[in-house]
Amino acid sequence: MPLEVIVVENYEIMSDAAASILILEMSQATVLEGRKFNLGLAAGSSPLGLYLRIAQRQGEFDPTNIRSWNLDEYAGLPENHPESYAFQMEQNLFGKLNPRFAKIFIPEGDKIDAARLEGELKEKPQTAELDGRYSGKAIVIKTFSGYTGRIKRTILVPYLESIVSAGGIDWQIAGVGRKGHIGFHESGVPLEYGIMLVKLSDETIADAVKDGHFLSAEEAPKYAVSLGAEGLMRYSKNILVLASGDRKTEAIAKALLGPMTSDSPISAMQKRIGSSSKVIYVVDEIAAAEILGRERKLTEKGIKLRDIRRSASLYS
Ligand code: GLP
Repeated sequence: MPLEVIVVENYEIMSDAAASILILEMSQATVLEGRKFNLGLAAGSSPLGLYLRIAQRQGEFDPTNIRSWNLDEYAGLPENHPESYAFQMEQNLFGKLNPRFAKIFIPEGDKIDAARLEGELKEKPQTAELDGRYSGKAIVIKTFSGYTGRIKRTILVPYLESIVSAGGIDWQIAGVGRKGHIGFHESGVPLEYGIMLVKLSDETIADAVKDGHFLSAEEAPKYAVSLGAEGLMRYSKNILVLASGDRKTEAIAKALLGPMTSDSPISAMQKRIGSSSKVIYVVDEIAAAEILGRERKLTEKGIKLRDIRRSASLYS
């Protein structure tokens, strides 16, 4: 199955199409086959319409057979902080399901004391290496002792292990950042990380302030926990990427037409070209503006473009 891109008119149809794809899979697994289904979830505005539809159509699948994992989380925000991803997912999806998913896994960013982390990084720089070409960095922790070691031992490693021991994610939902980042795997951070503690980039912090999530850059979190591109490639069987609007146009073009590069972490999905696992991008026509008309180049790369803007059904 090639990497596939479905182009639709707008955000609402993007959400309808994503819901049709995902709910069919969830219902097939949890109702028809009566088996467990592992779902990877992303925060942000791109999947909100999808989550609304999942809640509206909850009779079509069995939530008690579903376990979910959030992709990323800010470090240092309490779980019930309105801007924490745990809280947002509770508001937008988990709290609307009755019964709820059998198990909900969240990276425990709330357990990180950001000031203590920053202190240790300053005082004992040898405990961690900052990896990345731009201001967003992976904090590569080299020890199992000290405060950073404790974060690795008690938060990062167990989270990845919870996914591995559950047999991996069946379907991962992902949005894409303006610079092609996925989760909090920032642009310029090598693609090799399964999970990481992240020092957020200046752009990500500025965007969070600009979008009204925090009053100022000083107030916004500086660190986060995130699955990395390699973690997604290795542990997710299938991936559904959602993108809409002009803030995503360049990111989508680079992700699909450009080379696989850490500058655009989401470009790592190109690894799936020709594989039996699916990667489906559902994008609106504005986000797709720079790939529409480039079918030949996409086909040469093994990427299938389905422009369904004028067709009646996703399956026609
Ligand atoms: C943020 C988040 C990601 C999210 C992305 C896109 O940086 N860490 O999880 O997917 O931005 O967000 P949005 O869908 O709101 O555009």
